[in-house]
Amino acid sequence: MTILRAGEALFSHAQYEDAVRRVRESAAAYYGDGDSSLDDTTYDRLLVAVAAWEQEHPERISPDSPTGKVGAGAAPAGDVAHTQRLLSLDNVFTPDELVAWGASLERRLGRPAVGGFAVEPKLDGAAVAARYREGVLVQIITRGDGSHGEDVSHVIGTIEGLPEQLPSPVTVEVRGEVLFTQAQFEAANEMRTAHGARVFSNPRNGTSGTLRAQNRPYRLPMTFWAYGAVDLDGVGFVSPAATHAEVLEGVAAAGVQTTLHTPAGLRVVATLAEAQARVDEIAALRAGLPHGIDGVVVKANDPKEQQIAGFGTRFPYWAVAVKLPAAEMMTTLLEVEWNVGRTGVVAPRARVRPVEVDGSTVEFATLHNPADIRRRDLHVGDTVTVYKAGDIIPRIQAAVVELRPADALPVAFPEQCPNCGDGIDKSQERWRCVRGAACRLPALIGYAAGRDMLDIDGLGATYVNALVASGEVTDIADLFTLTHEQLAVASGSEKRAAKLVEQLAAAKERPLNRVFCALGILGTGRSMSRRIARHFGTMEAVRAADAEAMQEVEGIGPEKAPVIVQQLADLAPVVEKLIAAGVNMTEPAEEKVSDGPLADQVVVVTGRMTGRLDGFGRSEMNALIERAGGKAGSSVNSRTTHLVAAPSASGRPSSKAVKAAENGVEVLTPEAFADLVADYLD
Ligand code: IVH
Repeated sequence: MTILRAGEALFSHAQYEDAVRRVRESAAAYYGDGDSSLDDTTYDRLLVAVAAWEQEHPERISPDSPTGKVGAGAAPAGDVAHTQRLLSLDNVFTPDELVAWGASLERRLGRPAVGGFAVEPKLDGAAVAARYREGVLVQIITRGDGSHGEDVSHVIGTIEGLPEQLPSPVTVEVRGEVLFTQAQFEAANEMRTAHGARVFSNPRNGTSGTLRAQNRPYRLPMTFWAYGAVDLDGVGFVSPAATHAEVLEGVAAAGVQTTLHTPAGLRVVATLAEAQARVDEIAALRAGLPHGIDGVVVKANDPKEQQIAGFGTRFPYWAVAVKLPAAEMMTTLLEVEWNVGRTGVVAPRARVRPVEVDGSTVEFATLHNPADIRRRDLHVGDTVTVYKAGDIIPRIQAAVVELRPADALPVAFPEQCPNCGDGIDKSQERWRCVRGAACRLPALIGYAAGRDMLDIDGLGATYVNALVASGEVTDIADLFTLTHEQLAVASGSEKRAAKLVEQLAAAKERPLNRVFCALGILGTGRSMSRRIARHFGTMEAVRAADAEAMQEVEGIGPEKAPVIVQQLADLAPVVEKLIAAGVNMTEPAEEKVSDGPLADQVVVVTGRMTGRLDGFGRSEMNALIERAGGKAGSSVNSRTTHLVAAPSASGRPSSKAVKAAENGVEVLTPEAFADLVADYLD
């Protein structure tokens, strides 16, 4: 089987024929029951490689070649003639290509476009034409080959946004995209599983399959948004003078949902530069949209300019799709792990064969809850579709059931809590350890009381367990309201209790960075907590930060930010209790460090420290660097000024040392560095 990386070519005629066959099979499956065995990226790469090979070998082009054919030649044409050809869109992939498209539009117009551009989401579903006569929805037709489509009127009444009856007796053909929103997709697969039918591997394939399926014993709701309209039966609905936005306003006024109603909306802008800015905005919205988009469509808004620009055989010259990176890829489900969250929820997480999706490598994907696994009918070993857009946590859409290997095993569900071994309460969709929050609590409290966090000396695991078991401590905040008596009972000694009271009083005064770290938020260890606390100064400010503000902290990217913000929001009751107990919530103003020996320096540390720095772990070193006015870096780059590196035992320089030498970074031994920061060593 030919598997191509981006930009890779086909070499032999046999490879070419194999690629042609696979593209056609995949397209045929897609137009059949909706389930293509290739993801979009693989499919597109094969198609590009096939076209490239054909350019080199025009004399050997296969009659089956998918190039230049709507739906790779596999789209069922159907027998209903379209009123006007139902066209596709030309694609661009980069801002430069959009500019080039603008230039070609300008050439066709003989002058710059002045009528503005409508910018709207490119909905990732299936194109249909819906015919209304006298206000009644009489027929729905698929795109087919663009000139003839299939009659799929059996779905009338199941599509949100495409009412069977309009309030006024208009006659018009609306054109738009029908799709499953994510929520509809989940519900559809649940329904399919209940009926013993194969799950859909993703919403788009599900849409295609659902439009074609005639005799299902169940109905699966979908959603429609119109992106155009044409006259039907010669009744003048669409004014020739109406702009694209005005046509859609007319459709909306008639009672049909349009792209104006999508969460990303339709915006008319004056220039292509503004259109690009809107493309970027919609791309940023993508992760939060309730439905899939695979691009953003830019259309000349003015009807005269549309008319002058005209149409090619496959797409209009006055509109273009700016494609977004694929948000979905196929990979293999390797394992399902079960983790117990802070509140005792036993949550599954999928480990998949690492795959690059939308600019980052996905290794893990959420599965929400056990019902989610059942709904998706997942087996370990399955080929699965993984969806990730922007900064959302990747999710498994579903298995591609027809690719299931013979040895694939249904996902196994735990009988006991994977953290403490106690029972699991399975009465709700979300499973919980019967101990609830107490399951993870002793470990969380032990962590919070640790030396680098609240530093509560003497609060050993045995006492913590006793306090958790008695119900006196249900979160870390409860520690601060324990009485001397309670501590005496838990520790079995008045003297130990007195010491703990003192320790707890001191712990209340710790700087915000330690208090924050003690919350145990994933992705915020010592250094990160310090950076967050320094950046925001107060807990109030940290809590007020949204994902965007959180990314201002060095080392927090678009993936981590929303996860931190969400966890902190979940911890609101604990934070409130800590505040009520009088725990410090501010970071002391930074000492004036600009005159420290490391002012404006960025220091990276590698290897084990020795001499006066013996025993300094990474977090102590970072603290030391920051006390001395510097910044701690994690890797050597152009901003690095010093590398602290112990000479390696082998005598061979470490990779960081090599990089430092290449970048002209000063390399210091631990001893030389200790000299430099001697005044700040404690
Ligand atoms: S305009 C003559 N607008 O994308 C204009 N198409 O890849 C043709 N699509 O066939 C279409 N969202 O099915 C248009 N806002 C939008 C769209 C959109 C999705 C689909 C449509 C088209 C395909 C081309």
